[in-house]
Amino acid sequence: MKDAEPRKRLEAHRRGIATRRATNDQELRRRLERAGRSEDWVATLADWFDGHDLAFGHGTDNSTDEAYWLLRHLHEWRDELRDAPPDRTLLDPLVELAVRRVRERKPLAYLLGEAWFAGLRFRVDERVLVPRSPIAELIERRLAPWCALEPGDRVLDIGTGSGCLGIAVAVHCPGTRVDATDVSADALAVAADNVALHGLEDRVRLYRADLFPDTDARYRAIISNPPYVPAAEIESLPPEYAHEPELALRGDAAGLGPTLRLLDRAADYLLPDGVAIVEVGDSAEALMQARPRLPFVWVELGRGGHGVFVLEAGDLHRSGHSAGGGAGRNRT
Ligand SMILES: C[S@@+](CC[C@H](N)C(=O)[O-])C[C@H]1O[C@@H](n2cnc3c(N)ncnc32)[C@H](O)[C@@H]1O
Repeated sequence: MKDAEPRKRLEAHRRGIATRRATNDQELRRRLERAGRSEDWVATLADWFDGHDLAFGHGTDNSTDEAYWLLRHLHEWRDELRDAPPDRTLLDPLVELAVRRVRERKPLAYLLGEAWFAGLRFRVDERVLVPRSPIAELIERRLAPWCALEPGDRVLDIGTGSGCLGIAVAVHCPGTRVDATDVSADALAVAADNVALHGLEDRVRLYRADLFPDTDARYRAIISNPPYVPAAEIESLPPEYAHEPELALRGDAAGLGPTLRLLDRAADYLLPDGVAIVEVGDSAEALMQARPRLPFVWVELGRGGHGVFVLEAGDLHRSGHSAGGGAGRNRT
């Protein structure tokens, strides 16, 4: 009987949590029931999200956008429903998803199975990073001014995940051909779904490979959002990030391992007028220290985000970042 007291206290504690949760969920439902317009639903949801200390950054950066996304998803993105009075039949799924978002701290993209990137819809689940790279902005303008992609140009997307970067290139730059690699067979399965979703099987090819594919191609552009979070920082990320594949986030001790290996070989895969465009986020400073001879150009991003650099093939060659003799790859 000595142990009965702590056990009772634990059970009471658990009952207390369950009761508070139920009250909280019912309160959300009551507030939504009182709301007269769709925009009131969005405001109510956003307010509720704000009260639960969520982390954003998986496709939105604030509670209002997240609430709007949730409602529009339930509207199946039908524009005519946007300003219509709230559809009460959506109350149950809306509350259920909002409660899961708060309780599980799972990115909304995974709960909905969809993400938006460069104006395009992608299927996503926990096998891939939620698409959010600021490189989207550059793809939408065909990578100008560093190179204006033309029909026939070939592009390599390294670490493709959901396929978002490569697929966005193929859509926004008609006539280009994209090779996309990933080491994760799981990620490639999701990417293949997305290639099919966008009907791009003839222009986007997927390869399971460590960074570079086993092809003879030379590319006009290499684009990549490699894993770059320093290992020690992974633990301190908000809980939302723990739902993403660690392989997609973790760089190495300093976060730079995959990026440095990519830079060491990129020149051998680029055309003489080719460019490499790579996201390294907060690892920018460490990268410049690790490769002081490389003339990184850091892109100013109009829509937010940071840590995206551009290097021209010539810069990589001049700085000695090429195998020169081909390093075993067929250079036809
Ligand atoms: C940060 S995620 C980027 C995914 C996608 N490109 C995006 O922007 O959303 C990095 C991706 O690189 C893949 N990856 C990790 N190491 C790799 C390697 N050595 N070679 C190829 N892909 C790798 C991971 O599986 C993951 O899908």
